[in-house]
Amino acid sequence: GRTAAVIPAAGRGVRLGPGAPKALRALNGTPMLIHAVRAMAASRAVSLVVVVAPPDGAAEVKALLDTHALPERTDFLVVPGGDSRQESVKYGLDALPPGVDIVLVHDAARPLVPVDTVDAVIEAVRDGAPAVVPALPLADTVKQVEPASEPGMPEPVVATPERARLRAVQTPQGFDRATLVRAHETVTGNVTDDASMVEQLGERVVVVPGHEEAFKVTRPLDLVLAEAVLARRRA
Ligand code: CTP
Ligand code: MG
Repeated sequence: GRTAAVIPAAGRGVRLGPGAPKALRALNGTPMLIHAVRAMAASRAVSLVVVVAPPDGAAEVKALLDTHALPERTDFLVVPGGDSRQESVKYGLDALPPGVDIVLVHDAARPLVPVDTVDAVIEAVRDGAPAVVPALPLADTVKQVEPASEPGMPEPVVATPERARLRAVQTPQGFDRATLVRAHETVTGNVTDDASMVEQLGERVVVVPGHEEAFKVTRPLDLVLAEAVLARRRA
């Protein structure tokens, strides 16, 4: 069967500050989304990329895909997104044709993920894991807190999970298609990644090594880092 990548790109990018939707903002002159599309299409295993565009921006995204050089061997689809990332991913899954049996879900906001990470995720799904996440150890210690007793008061710390056993999770996350579709049909409630929905089904989720360059562009400082990484690649 084929491997497809769904790229949720429908977010506003509130934390990045005012401007165009985050995925359409430029990194070294090229929209972040185009970098992310190229990162998926760089894998020879990926034969279809489904971009989930801002709800009112599907035509603009189609035009962008037409004007930027992309591999001939890859097919592209554009669908409009929804109010939450989860809903956007669901619309992307709904657009997949028959014959796709492995699905990657990749944030447009992670434009610089190296192809070796993409291939490692696909490989682990091919080896039989229903869900695979690339992840890195944490640099910071993490505290669990409770809400402050009243606004303006400090938050009480309730626990410190053992850092060595924590992982910061990235994308692309890779799935057996049927498992991910079932997760999206079954699991409700707020989730921040796709693998957690598969966990809630009780299915096995495994980790492969992530990559520093797969970081998510979230805040303005991340744009500085992303452009520095691109400059280093060109040097
Ligand atoms: N996303 C989406 N549809 C939404 C919300 C988010 O497709 N309704 C996508 C974003 O475009 C992004 C990815 O999910 O590629 C990860 O989300 P995040 O980094 O939070 O992006 P935004 O939601 O755009 O940013 P913010 O939360 O700061 O507004
Ligand atoms: Mg968001």
